[in-house]
Amino acid sequence: MSVGNFYFCIFIMVRLSKHSIRKKLLSERSKLSPEIILENSKKITESLLKLDIYQQSTNIMLYIATPSEVQTEEIIKTAQKDRKKVFVPLIIRRDQPMLPSLLNDFEKELSTGYLGILQPRKEFFRIYPPSILNLIIVPGVAFTLQGHRLGRGGGYYDRFLSQLKKDTISVALAFEMQILAQIPHDQNDFPVDYIITEQRVIPIRSPLLKDEN
Ligand SMILES: Nc1ncnc2c1ncn2[C@@H]1O[C@H](COP(=O)(O)OP(=O)(O)OP(=O)(O)O)[C@@H](O)[C@H]1O
Ligand SMILES: [Mg+2]
Repeated sequence: MSVGNFYFCIFIMVRLSKHSIRKKLLSERSKLSPEIILENSKKITESLLKLDIYQQSTNIMLYIATPSEVQTEEIIKTAQKDRKKVFVPLIIRRDQPMLPSLLNDFEKELSTGYLGILQPRKEFFRIYPPSILNLIIVPGVAFTLQGHRLGRGGGYYDRFLSQLKKDTISVALAFEMQILAQIPHDQNDFPVDYIITEQRVIPIRSPLLKDEN
């Protein structure tokens, strides 16, 4: 087999195994009851709000959760009360990158967008450069203790995280059942700096050390 064919086979194997892990985890996570999701999301919210990296950040990007993800509504509303600027992901076209849009009112500005996820309605698009962010709160399907992340398969977060300034901190929110020993990954998969679950805060890498990893 040529070197080119060998790498192509590895690429296909990574794609297929990501696909099956994603399917399995999404199916398991969909079995969590709304009560457990709410209870664990509350614990995760409390842990995040206590961290210095939250308290010291003025510009925070947060995902808007679907029903089976770690919920973020309380974090968004608390951050706005704490006078922080909250940005949410905006996908205008499927083939274009995700953008941060400033959100002022959680109740009034959102409607269902791409992939059934809430995002700002057109009249509330307020797009800023990703370099403005101090902190980004990231969703995911599965994670490892090394910070590897499996998302929904669009590559949107991988592309977005790779454009951020080196000192922007990324924090993933996950239920403990989403932490796996290993996830197939390639050079485009962008790791996160912290993971918070209902049981623990997992620091993975200091932003100052990012270049060394
Ligand atoms: N920085 C990048 N540049 C070009 N292609 C990329 C980049 N990051 C990811 N991709 C491509 O996007 C596709 C989906 O990637 P992957 O399966 O890792 O998605 P994911 O991490 O699960 O999704 P997401 O980041 O949206 O949560 C792959 O074909 C991958 O090669
Ligand atoms: Mg990826």
